[in-house]
Amino acid sequence: MRARVGSPAVRRGSIVRITVYGVVVGILASLVAVLIPWLPTSASEEMDRIEFTFWFTTVICIGVFSIVAAVIVYSVLKFRAHPDDDRDGPPIHGHTALEIYWTAIPAVLVTAISVVSAIVLAKNDDAGPNPLRIAVTAQQFAWSFEYPGEDPVRSGSLVLPVRQSVKLTLRSLDVIHSFWIPEMGQKSDAVPGVETTLVLTPTRVGSYTLMCTELCGLGHATMRARVQVVERKDYNAFLQREAAGGGQDENDGEAVFASAGCGGCHAFEPAGTDAEVGPSLDDVAARAEATGVAADDFIRQSIVDPDAVVAQGYQPGVMPKTYESSLSDEQLDALVQYLGGNE
Ligand code: CUA
Repeated sequence: MRARVGSPAVRRGSIVRITVYGVVVGILASLVAVLIPWLPTSASEEMDRIEFTFWFTTVICIGVFSIVAAVIVYSVLKFRAHPDDDRDGPPIHGHTALEIYWTAIPAVLVTAISVVSAIVLAKNDDAGPNPLRIAVTAQQFAWSFEYPGEDPVRSGSLVLPVRQSVKLTLRSLDVIHSFWIPEMGQKSDAVPGVETTLVLTPTRVGSYTLMCTELCGLGHATMRARVQVVERKDYNAFLQREAAGGGQDENDGEAVFASAGCGGCHAFEPAGTDAEVGPSLDDVAARAEATGVAADDFIRQSIVDPDAVVAQGYQPGVMPKTYESSLSDEQLDALVQYLGGNE
């Protein structure tokens, strides 16, 4: 005769089997969590905290998943009906104690996740008493950065001193973009008409990529910028170099081409770019000739009023119309010369 359901021996056997299933599922889920590199190697204090939150939540999830999966596997095997068994199952009433446990325990766990997340969010938003402030400007499809100092320095790449808390202020000249350096974790939108902020404290010297993570137009995928985390003395040297070169920068068409982000959309051999969002600029002089306008005038018009003449096979309204205001007259002249091949 079989042992009756509910007898101590049967109950002990069931608990052992559920525990074994739970341990097996837990090990498998832990391997998936640990063996696959889900997150990039952290390069900022903020990312360290985000990683902690991630793993805190993941461990709780693996625990809950293991218990639920173990009970499901046990039930499927134990209570499987024979194919020709059409009888109704036994009537089951609620189990008050069980319901209190499976409501209270998840409530405690979810509250713990909320508390940890709130603490991390508050800490990651706190730049401390004396952060370095860098202004970030986003536009289709390029980033530019303005560093503080007696002579503010502008650059198309982001250079940060290591172990220094930095407060970035983000603004956009056209549509919504989003600032993200994967290794540094923090992410924030750049919204036209609104100034948003982001705090970073880099912990590792190295080279990273800033990418736009808000679909902002045809050139969205090309909207990237180089990020260099350097020692403090190298940061100071960078500022000095940029400040010294700043006077000539305005007349350096190649530098303007790079900082205005032209290469994000256009192929131009002298600059070594090969993007295909907009027409190639290698034959722009020939196209000017076809319209019967002097090359310099045609190029200038195409920069400040890009929809005046749209190259065959391309759409109007794609290229930003902000360059007349965002570039100085000297920069515009230099860019026209550079693109016209007169440099
Ligand atoms: Cu800017 Cu996507």
